[in-house]
Order: sequence, then C-alpha cells, then structure tokens
Amino acid sequence: VEVDVRRGLPAFTIIGLPDTAVREARERVRTAMLNSGFAFPAQRVTVSLAPSDLRKTGPGLDLALACALLCASGQLPPAALESHALHGELALDGTVRSARGSLAIADAVARAGLPRLVLSPRDAAEAALVPGIGAVPARTLRDAANVLSGRSPSACDERAPQHVPPDRAREGDRGTGERAVDLADVRGQAYAVRALIVAAAGGHNLLLSGPPGTGKTMLAHRLPGILPALTTGEALEVARVSSVVGRRVTSLSRARPFRAPHHSITPAGLIGGGERGAPGEITLAHNGVLFLDELSEFAPATLDALRQPLEEGRIALARARHTATYPARFQLLAATNPCPCGYRGEEGRCSCSEQQLQRWRRRLSGPLLDRIDIHAQLTSEPQAAGAAATATSSRARAQVREARERQAARAAQVGAALNAHLGARALSALRVDDAAGKMLDRAAREGLLSMRGQARVLRVARTLADLAHSERVGAEHLGTALTLRGGGREAPTQPSRLRRARA
Ligand SMILES: Nc1ncnc2c1ncn2[C@@H]1O[C@H](COP(=O)(O)OP(=O)(O)OP(=O)(O)O)[C@@H](O)[C@H]1O
Ligand SMILES: [Mg+2]
Repeated sequence: VEVDVRRGLPAFTIIGLPDTAVREARERVRTAMLNSGFAFPAQRVTVSLAPSDLRKTGPGLDLALACALLCASGQLPPAALESHALHGELALDGTVRSARGSLAIADAVARAGLPRLVLSPRDAAEAALVPGIGAVPARTLRDAANVLSGRSPSACDERAPQHVPPDRAREGDRGTGERAVDLADVRGQAYAVRALIVAAAGGHNLLLSGPPGTGKTMLAHRLPGILPALTTGEALEVARVSSVVGRRVTSLSRARPFRAPHHSITPAGLIGGGERGAPGEITLAHNGVLFLDELSEFAPATLDALRQPLEEGRIALARARHTATYPARFQLLAATNPCPCGYRGEEGRCSCSEQQLQRWRRRLSGPLLDRIDIHAQLTSEPQAAGAAATATSSRARAQVREARERQAARAAQVGAALNAHLGARALSALRVDDAAGKMLDRAAREGLLSMRGQARVLRVARTLADLAHSERVGAEHLGTALTLRGGGREAPTQPSRLRRARA
C-alpha cells in the first residue's frame, strides 16, 4: 500500500484494481481516523495498491491504508512501517476487525522477512501459529499507531509464536469422532482391508468397487483413522488453506483432512475457481484424503478435471489477469459399484446388458482409472458366512507408521517422502529383484499396463516391500502390486487377466 499526500483540492483516490470493498475503504478509513482522534488531511490523497494488475479484494487492507496515511500526513514516524506488516478491517469507531486469511498472510510476512504483524486480537491468535514472526494484537487503530510509534500500549502484549507440540501424534489430537469408527467394525473383506492399509502406507490412490451394502463407504471412512497425524509443516499448510477460505483457525489441527464432496459437485467446486477463484475440494483435501463415493455418478467432465492435479499435486487456476496456484496433494479414495445393477463379478447375479455395461464404462474415464494405483473389489460372500474382522485400526496405524518411517528414512535420497510420489529417476533407481523386473516387463509386453501404469505398480510394490521390512522389491511384492492394480479380490470367482498373465 503506497500513500501520497500533497497540496491540492481535497480528494481521496484508490488505484490498483480495487474491488468494491476496497474502494469503500475510503469511507471506513476516513471515519475511523477522525473517530480515533487523528486528523484526516484536507489535501490530495492518492493510494496505490501494487502490483497494479492484480485485483485487490476484501476489507483486510483498511488497517495498512490508515497507518500509511498517518505516516504520510506526518502523524506517525514512517520508520516503523519498515518492520511491520498490518492486516485488518476498520470499524467506523476505529476498532480493528478480523479479516479473512490471517494465517496465510502471517506466513507470507514470515517469508518476506518482516518481524512483526499487527492485526485484530482474534486474528493475532491465528497468526501466532506461524513460527518466526511476532503477531501483535491491536484492538483499535490507536493501539496500532502506538505499536508503530514504539509505545507498547498495555493492551498490546506481543504474542510469541505458539509452542507447537512435536510431530508425533497425540491421540487426543486426531480429530473428533474418529475413534468412534474402527477397522474392527468391518467383517470379512480381508482383501479390501489389506488394500486400504497398503494405500495408507504409501499414500496411494485407491478405488473400492463391489456390490451394494458390502462396506465400501464404511471402509473409506476408516482411512483417516489409520493415517499418521500431520507433521508441523503439513499442519501449517492445512491451516493456511482453512484460513484462506475464511475458517477460524485457533490451533494447529493434526488430523488429516478428509473431504467427501457429493457427486453433484461442479468442476469449479471440486478443483476451485468460479467467480472469486476460491480453492476447491482438492485444495481443502491437501495433505489428506479426497473421498469420491459413488464415483460413477460424478459428471465425467468433473472427474476429468482431476487428472492434472492428481499428477502435479497442485492446481493452477487461470483468472482474468493472473494465475492462482493452490496446493492439492491429496490421496484419492473412490468407491463405486462395478456395474449398474451392482452385482457384476458375483456369479450369476448381474442382470446388466452388454449395452448398459458399455455405457457404464464410458462414465468412468480411462485416464482417471489409470491414475488409481490400487483397485480393490469387495464381495458379498464373507458377510453371509458371518466372517470376523481382519484388522483393528490401532494395529493398522502402527503398520502404516512403520512403513512411512522407512520411506521417510529414504526421502532425502529419492526426493519424495511417500512412495506414491516417487519420480521417474527414483523409480529407475529402485532395487528390484530380477524375477520382479521380468514380471513387470511381461505385463508391459502383453499390453496390460501403460507406462504410467508400470510406474504406479512399482510404487505400490515398493510400499509392499516397506510393509514387509524388505530393502528390495521382490517378485512377491511386484506380483501383489500387479494384482492390486488389476482389481483382484480375496476369493476370485473368475481369474483376472492379470492373474492369468502371472501364471
Ligand atoms: N463388511 C462389513 N462388515 C460389517 N458391516 C457391514 C459390512 N458391509 C456393510 N456393513 C453394514 O452395512 C452398512 C452399509 O454399508 P456401506 O454403506 O459401507 O455399503 P456400500 O458398499 O458403500 O454400499 P453402496 O454400494 O450401496 O454404497 C454399513 O453401515 C454396515 O452397517
Ligand atoms: Mg456406499
């Protein structure tokens, strides 16, 4: 915010693509200054918001504008502005109101190397979560002026950055309601439960498919409970997103985001954009899980929009004059019936015509399915037999944590903390047994795997090796990874093509 005050007919102009809320700052700032006992210069005031080609939105610039104006008109020493950032809306009586995005702004202030940020007491609590800056609460414009002129008013005790607890999860930290659901509730479906654990261990995308009422939705809701808690860095990224979408952030939550948008969602709702360029579900799911239940009900165009962020871990939204890039590294979890009637693969129970099946396949885009590493099928058999549970969340969580620790130990070397994010170079440097290599070559030769498919199978195989405490990827890991990719199941009624290829 730049302010220039000079002789001339009294005027107050704001340039630099202000939106209506920013333009109205003129009235708020003028009145707040007068009501706080300051003079408003009866001169020509020009305010420039830089960079001038970026649209400025919302009332959060009020406080900075008022303080810059106080300095420009000689009512405050300008030196203080060098080391202070300001963020907040002004009420007519001079009260500093909370403004959206404080945590993201505090983060930007820290990156810019400014030591202190002045904001409303409510926002200061949020900004104090960011390490490396002092968040100074100011109740009023007067308070803010006192801070800038070096007097520390009694109301303005600086908040040191909050002590952030160590990375390891504390049980109480894992979000509410999560302990109410446990893998121990799921009877049978050993294959799908195992697939869920593998997906959690390596951060892989997972598709659950099976007849109605077999536990797909049930299993999906048990994924967050077996994932490790967020690290401090991840938790800050998640909090930054929450802050930008206007949610109040009072403490750093360690629970992984779990987003389950309804299938009627629009592409803009899912990936972000629209009128205001707001972040979408994929950004809200950053560092967590995006669960798409009833995958085949989503509009194909909506699903197609997922392809790029799934590869890149972020989304670039083109706006009129600039591009906004939001983080979107999420784990995709999807559930679907295998066909319109829901019983395909169950001997003799599917009543769909070939035409219906074809239409069904067209709904699920091939390129999207190709990005899903693990396809697990659930069956309706085990429940009928009164099967018992095959895992508990606490045991699964321990397995996942151990596998992730092994991955973290390699992270510096391979450039990715999770197997799901291993790049081409790291994959070609993987230590793979001969037999496993041959198996992959054979599957590729027979046209069962795209190039992307091969990379994804290798990543899952690496995770299986990590779960088995193995340094090398062996034939057994690669074989299982191939089966997991091909939609295998516990007790196949028909051998899949991949199984035959293996034989
Ligand atoms: N494997 C299972 N173990 C225990 N309970 C189960 C199992 N499968 C289903 N149930 C029970 O059935 C209910 C419905 O299951 P769920 O919603 O997960 O089915 P679904 O596979 O998602 O079906 P749909 O295809 O209709 O969405 C669950 O809330 C649970 O009570
Ligand atoms: Mg369901």
